Amino acid sequence: MKVLLTGASGFIGAAIRDQLDASGHDVVAVDALIPQAHGTDTVPDVSVHRLDVRQADTWVDLLRGVDVVCHQSAMVGAGVTVADMPLYASHNDLGTAVLLAAMEEAGVKRLVFASSMVVYGEGRYVCATHGHVQPGVRTVADLEAGRFDNPCPSCDRALGWELVDEDARLDPRSSYAASKLATEHYASAWVRQADARAVGLRYHNVYGARMPRDTPYSGVAAIFRSSLERGESPRVFEDGGQMRDFVHVTDVARANLASIEAVAEDRLAPYEAFNVCSGEPVSIRDVAQMLGAASGIDPVVTGQYRLGDVRHVVASPERARQVLGFSAQVGPEQGLAAFVHEPLRT
Ligand code: UD1
Repeated sequence: MKVLLTGASGFIGAAIRDQLDASGHDVVAVDALIPQAHGTDTVPDVSVHRLDVRQADTWVDLLRGVDVVCHQSAMVGAGVTVADMPLYASHNDLGTAVLLAAMEEAGVKRLVFASSMVVYGEGRYVCATHGHVQPGVRTVADLEAGRFDNPCPSCDRALGWELVDEDARLDPRSSYAASKLATEHYASAWVRQADARAVGLRYHNVYGARMPRDTPYSGVAAIFRSSLERGESPRVFEDGGQMRDFVHVTDVARANLASIEAVAEDRLAPYEAFNVCSGEPVSIRDVAQMLGAASGIDPVVTGQYRLGDVRHVVASPERARQVLGFSAQVGPEQGLAAFVHEPLRT
């Protein structure tokens, strides 16, 4: 099958490309090589078309005859300042909209795209007395006082966490999250208007070989890994009890392959969204310890906090398993120990 892959030079895109190539698919690789992700002295890969999805209307010919578009290009991270907002809106919102219009013009009706767990905002919480509740936003006063757990809105007692499923309320809390939710909305509108089919993959915390070194836009795995490479302790914020799901990039690529094949064969509902996760929640303190143990460097729990961070967001892998037949193969214990020795992108 012929697959046009955007973001083909990125951390996740490159892993998808490896698996598409290995499966014998014909890949049309596209990447804009934006400096925020690739720096300014990138060595050009001649097999990648250096094109921007925001100008997909100018390269419609590349889309003709394509069976599925796998759309991975995006501006990532949480947004450093408000000044980044136009970048997220431009690369992610506008980029997706222009790509969808170009796909319509070229007659391409199948899409798999990268969404994110950030569309949920906070995860799923339960109070021992009040059952499932929606926490508010953590206040500066609570965070300053070291009260990191979300309190129950009714009784103020600390809430416990549970796995988020795809029907959870969507509550984006950053420019990046807003742009990923917009991507989902554009894709589902396109499905209806163009009589097309799309799959949105809500990635959890992705890590693995060729992850970019730490930048202001990096997730915590890259930050910890880069600290260890410099011989420094990973600095764990809050009390380290915040929970995430770390999913290996090879599993993310496998979820994309499964989705590309399923959407091409019309095996799914017209619009689907799936969590892409390992299904094995882990605390940030344990992540730092696992990475530190493999490098012989102890982490430091600093008690610092970032105002935009959510406390816990961990996901149920069930829907992807049942509908898509996808389950992660690399658990965090095995994957994080190996990640210490895997090369980062230079
Ligand atoms: C991250 C990404 C998000 C992406 C999502 C899923 C960023 C900034 N966030 O969200 O864009 O969609 O994964 O892949 O890229 N922490 C430390 N020490 C540090 C840095 C962070 O303890 O040096 C803590 C944070 O306080 C937070 C946790 O680690 O509690 C996770 O941080 P991070 O990876 O940045 O953000 P996520 O919310 O998980």
